Amino acid sequence: MTPSRPIRIFDTTLRDGEQSPGASMNLAEKMEIAQALEALGVDVIEAGFPIASPGDFASVREIAGAIRGAVVCGLARCNDADIDRAWEALRAAERPRIHVFLATSAIHREFKLRMTEDEVVARAVAGVRRARALCPEVEFSPEDAARTEIDFLCRVVGAAIDAGATTVNIPDTVGYATPQQMHRVISALRERVPGIDRAVISVHCHDDLGLAVANSLAAVEAGAGQVECTINGLGERAGNCSLEEVVMALRTRHDHYGCETRIVTQKLVPTSRLVASITGIQVPRNKAIVGRNAFAHESGIHQDGMLKERSTYEIMRPEDVGLERTDLVLGKHSGRAALSDRAKALGYQLSAEQLQTLFERFKVLADRKKEIYDGDIAALCEDQIAEVPERFTFGGYDIACSCGTSPRVVLTVAQDGVARTVEVNEGDGPIDGIFLAIEKLTGVTTVCRDFRVQAVTVGKDAQAEVTVELQPVGAPRGSPTFRGRGVSTDSLEASAKAFLAAVNRVALGNEARIHPQKS
Ligand code: KIV
Ligand code: ZN
Repeated sequence: MTPSRPIRIFDTTLRDGEQSPGASMNLAEKMEIAQALEALGVDVIEAGFPIASPGDFASVREIAGAIRGAVVCGLARCNDADIDRAWEALRAAERPRIHVFLATSAIHREFKLRMTEDEVVARAVAGVRRARALCPEVEFSPEDAARTEIDFLCRVVGAAIDAGATTVNIPDTVGYATPQQMHRVISALRERVPGIDRAVISVHCHDDLGLAVANSLAAVEAGAGQVECTINGLGERAGNCSLEEVVMALRTRHDHYGCETRIVTQKLVPTSRLVASITGIQVPRNKAIVGRNAFAHESGIHQDGMLKERSTYEIMRPEDVGLERTDLVLGKHSGRAALSDRAKALGYQLSAEQLQTLFERFKVLADRKKEIYDGDIAALCEDQIAEVPERFTFGGYDIACSCGTSPRVVLTVAQDGVARTVEVNEGDGPIDGIFLAIEKLTGVTTVCRDFRVQAVTVGKDAQAEVTVELQPVGAPRGSPTFRGRGVSTDSLEASAKAFLAAVNRVALGNEARIHPQKS
């Protein structure tokens, strides 16, 4: 039997993923995700773009200092300032990598860079050399490679390898490629670039035409040894190749690809949920691998087949991707040890203090809700992990409302331990009334840019998970939004908690977040 070919998984959730509109994360959140990625078994974590902002620099530096095992990578354009700044952030890493990029397509050369082919090659070579003088691992990306003339692409890639690049990454920056084309490009590089074997060939596909995973797999078939991807397919515009999809395709169709990754697939769903809860970008129910319906069989014929033999309709086992069983797991009388075991099995690493709070909240929930599912426990754990430092804490509400009239809301919020209550008699329904009461009590006025409610599990008593995104009043369009999340069996309470969490972020200002604008 021929041995499996190893495929390196390069995760860019914290860099390209963070470029998804509304997905910016603060340092603590990025660190949480980096640790989850390390546990997931990714080979390379692209932690950010250090020159983009002081926040990006700080998070790359912290992650570089904390992660052991995986390579930690920082992005830089092909200029001295970017490369030096990236190295400053990365130098504490056990295994640092500088990732330099420069556009190569005719469109970018002519309209963006205003550079000739020779100038592009010279700049790429200078950038790779400078990075290589600092760092033993250097990745070079010819941006918009998929729209670059193949002769010129071969020339630039060859020059980058001669200058010391250890990985050459082929980005389909605008998501324009097709699988056959990607296959041709990688094959051409392997056939025509002298010294190509001295570097790992990587691929970085965007999903504008919904082809990112297919294109990445085609590149692997043609010989690529690294795939760049993100959890939940987050990323600029329509996103990047989804990590969970490409990994499970390689694993499930090992007979076809003959490749393997180091990913601990049982951690895919917990990692996906962690990223969704931190970014506030939920995955669609029918999303492959990690969507709530990905393993749900609805039709009678399918259910009958499943009962007789799972493989009739199931090509992967839900437990292989870490999907919880939907049966009842814990109840009112369950103890701390059972809860801790379950949280661990779902992929959550909690400190003793977090576990204590989790247990207290679990008991409150068990009083309200008879059946507690894995999804409920996951929601409580995510609350712990994504907890925002609080200036204001929720104290409770009393509401009277009826159709067609303004609600009467009496709401209590504590600030620095002192509880204050306000009554409002305005608003378009109870949720609007609650939001107005919170603004009145905290003095923070905002514009609501997004509001979403979804059920965490099944049944009429399912917990509601609410996410809101706010902008301070008067903030210019396009400026950062502040996210908040709240979970409760009472959807009004969940809304109040989510709104207050976002208000806490607004009140803490930019210190609590990383500015999302990238060059
Ligand atoms: O899409 C792209 O071209 C990129 C590069 C920086 C690799 O993200
Ligand atoms: Zn990209």
